[in-house]
Amino acid sequence: MSATDWGFATRQIHAGAIVDAEAGARITPIYQSAGYVFDSFDDGAERFAGRSARRAYSRNDNPTNVVAARRIADLEGGVDGVLVASGQAAIAAALSALAQSGDHILTSDRLYEGTREMVRGALRRQGLRFSAVSIDADEQAWVDAVLPETRAIYAESIANPLGEIADLAMLGRVSERTGVPLVIDNTVATPYLCRPFEHGAAVVIHSTSKWLSGHGSVIGGAIIDGGTFDWAAAADRFPQLHEPRPHGAESFAERFGDAAYTAYLRSVTVLEHGPSFPPTSAFLLLHGIETLSLRMERHVENARAVADALATHPAVAHVHYPGRPDDPRRAVVERMLPDGAGSIVSVDLVGGRDAARAFLDGLRLVSQMTHIGDVRTLAIHTGSTIHGKLDDAERRALGITPGLVRISIGLERVDDIVADLLQALEGIRP
Ligand SMILES: Cc1ncc(COP(=O)(O)O)c(C=O)c1O
Repeated sequence: MSATDWGFATRQIHAGAIVDAEAGARITPIYQSAGYVFDSFDDGAERFAGRSARRAYSRNDNPTNVVAARRIADLEGGVDGVLVASGQAAIAAALSALAQSGDHILTSDRLYEGTREMVRGALRRQGLRFSAVSIDADEQAWVDAVLPETRAIYAESIANPLGEIADLAMLGRVSERTGVPLVIDNTVATPYLCRPFEHGAAVVIHSTSKWLSGHGSVIGGAIIDGGTFDWAAAADRFPQLHEPRPHGAESFAERFGDAAYTAYLRSVTVLEHGPSFPPTSAFLLLHGIETLSLRMERHVENARAVADALATHPAVAHVHYPGRPDDPRRAVVERMLPDGAGSIVSVDLVGGRDAARAFLDGLRLVSQMTHIGDVRTLAIHTGSTIHGKLDDAERRALGITPGLVRISIGLERVDDIVADLLQALEGIRP
């Protein structure tokens, strides 16, 4: 049996693992070293010129990080990946590697608020243009929104915080028809529940701070290359991959073929911007990934039970969890996420903001904090925190009602989670 036949549960433990040559350590070691000794003067020059496969400096290339990146790439079905300092840095690096000043990015209108802030803030200030298409728009509407300058189509497979599902098969067709790569933030789904490359994505993003780690002790991000996009056919859109490199070296597309994007990302974007991922964090991330399938199964089971328990409570106006009977995108959820739709359950409380305050302040087991994908159940009123900079109309347009509370369902005994949420709901005065 070869590594290619291994199932997900085996690959999450073994894919990309190295056995340390010196000590034979079974666990991938933490290579806590800034740089790597050259064999000679000429070897140093070869490494810097990218003509040697051996590494030079940990800002963009560290052995512990490489194992974690390869493991995520394997689970996603991609060819390579790069780890960076946070999920936010992963989005910034992924888009910066694709688009230059004057270029355009097309996004879904339902995105994690930090991503929306970045595209409307830092990236716009750097000269990138953006427009958003409704997550419910049809294929032709997406195709029509693609401009000659569009360099990426960007969406979240499961959007944070309301769980709207992007129809990845449809977006894959849009990518194919327009020749624009599809970039998917797969943080909330994880590769256990959804693998966007199977639907036509070119690049997958993760905040590894969330379910991939699971323990809530490290911040990190990953950019995974599917090896699925024909960069050679898109030379006019991505000149950075086709221009000859210094000293007459062949272009990234010629040298790396399908993996040209990751090679450029690693050796230009991440090297120049420097959002390095600490190898200690990669070590902790690897320990999280080893149990991903088991955790996701329980996360989904607990989230479904919590959604059911809250849906009929008189203090709850609406429960957002993908695939529930009243979800208009139910058919897409069933097709795209047959094993479950993650573990964010957002509730809209009848009593609005005051009810949300009483509910959150009444929690005993569940922690009131920002973060998702932890083994612990966490809850937050996004309207006064994550979406706090928006005005009422902007929040309403995003579906963020005054009584909305996002709950990231953890792995505690489900009866204990439900009991805590119900006792906190009882504390809301009518
Ligand atoms: C879907 C999604 N993508 C990206 C990010 C950013 O990740 P990080 O907090 O690791 O920078 C988050 C953070 O909550 C997120 O929810």
